[in-house]
Amino acid sequence: MSNIQPLLGQVAIVTGAAKGIGRAIAVRLAESGADIVVADIDVANMPVTAQAIEAHGRRAVTLEADMRKESDIDRMVDQALQSFGRLDIVVNNAGINAPGGFLGVSRQDIRSVFDTDLIGPFMLSQRAAREMIKAGIRGRIVCISSIHSVVPHYCPHYSAAKIGLEQLVIDMALELAPYGIRANAIRPGGIAIRGRLETDSPDVANPNIPYEGRNGLPSEVAALAHFLVTEDSHYITGATVTIDGALSRMTYSALARRRRLAEEQHDLGFPIHIPGPVL
Ligand SMILES: NC(=O)c1ccc[n+]([C@@H]2O[C@H](COP(=O)([O-])OP(=O)(O)OC[C@H]3O[C@@H](n4cnc5c(N)ncnc54)[C@H](O)[C@@H]3O)[C@@H](O)[C@H]2O)c1
Repeated sequence: MSNIQPLLGQVAIVTGAAKGIGRAIAVRLAESGADIVVADIDVANMPVTAQAIEAHGRRAVTLEADMRKESDIDRMVDQALQSFGRLDIVVNNAGINAPGGFLGVSRQDIRSVFDTDLIGPFMLSQRAAREMIKAGIRGRIVCISSIHSVVPHYCPHYSAAKIGLEQLVIDMALELAPYGIRANAIRPGGIAIRGRLETDSPDVANPNIPYEGRNGLPSEVAALAHFLVTEDSHYITGATVTIDGALSRMTYSALARRRRLAEEQHDLGFPIHIPGPVL
């Protein structure tokens, strides 16, 4: 049983777990044996995540908590300790973008994105790490970044927050290594979430994405998060792992060459999928 459930007896906080990638991660960790604090501002959807966790025989507590508020961040850690008596894992998943490129974005929106995507995860990880060290727990911290940390998307506030998050992970990995606490980042791109696709349909076709010509699935990000919090990734810390079907590797020049190659390879008997216009 223990190798089937490597997280049995452990406790995780997953932020932004009411839906999307956060829900998939929370449920995946529960499937692996962890009890979960489901933290989000979306009160309506948190019970759905909690029910899915309980369906795996694990305990879930839902907590209305806003990453922009320091007191709410403290409450997340307090809740984990009060409800489950320990804290092993933090997944900083909650994240937002805001409209407006460099010329249009407002100070208020810049602040909101930074508070949610960078400062909140900073404060939560700091508080959690202090508790882990006090309890002698070899904790794990995972931060959900984005390919837009390095691939421009006309949203400099979001990109700046996410690249900051990746740097935070590097520094946490160094400072927490002596305590056996690991910190890693996941850099997703093109993941199909319900709100954006406006459907639960498994049809995630996307010709822009080189690998399999489709969007990624929240469950695929969750599998990576699971790997990063189990002993299978024991020696991995301070890393950022991209999961995007090679979307962020496709450039205009690569695409042009790919089209030329496609003709040659077709003649050689290797027909290939040609990605659509670069995003
Ligand atoms: N979907 C993608 O393709 C993609 C790509 C790159 C990065 N990401 C990142 O993945 C993470 C999850 O995004 P998603 O795609 O599942 O989106 P989503 O909107 O479905 O989920 C985000 C969750 O975070 C919650 N949230 C937002 N602000 C919050 C706050 N202040 N406090 C607490 N919770 C808050 C929302 O209520 C929501 O439940 C985000 O950090 C996002 O930047 C997603």
